[in-house]
Amino acid sequence: MSNAEHHEGTRRDFLYYATAGAGAVATGAAVWPLVNQMNPSADVLALSSIRVDVSGVSEGTQITVKWLGKPVFIRRRTAEEIEAARAVEVSDLVDPIAQNENIDASAPATDENRALDESGEWLVMMGVCTHLGCVPLGDGAGDYNGWFCPCHGSHYDTSGRIRRGPAPTNLPVPPAEFVDETTILLG
Ligand code: FES
Repeated sequence: MSNAEHHEGTRRDFLYYATAGAGAVATGAAVWPLVNQMNPSADVLALSSIRVDVSGVSEGTQITVKWLGKPVFIRRRTAEEIEAARAVEVSDLVDPIAQNENIDASAPATDENRALDESGEWLVMMGVCTHLGCVPLGDGAGDYNGWFCPCHGSHYDTSGRIRRGPAPTNLPVPPAEFVDETTILLG
């Protein structure tokens, strides 16, 4: 096997075509956004807002749902994850902007400005690497125990903020809110 073929095989291992809808758990990097944008189906385009039942999401786990054809991570964080995220100084961040559509566009990237609820237990963000659009790996991945994009090595922390690698900005927080104790409205 040539080097090129070998590389191709290794790369393919990273690619995971996520086709399942709400409730699916992402297990790898994907080219999902590209695939979906090339041929978005009518039902996908129609769902400008969706309700997600998060009653089955236990602490320390996350689900990935599809919204507007793109993956969205919904993570129920542990106390350790929240603590680590809140201990970071904004001045140490690559991207100092919260990237949260629910608040002022220029708000600083504190964890408090990114989490969905005051306690910080819930974090909702687009599951699309801000470099070239792969789906990062989650569940404590990477050097900052948050998310890791294996396509070109971008490390995100437990608040989804870019800390190392080529990605220019934090993972964006989409319009989201709790509409009752166990339901998140996206969009
Ligand atoms: S697409 Fe994620 S690091 Fe390049």
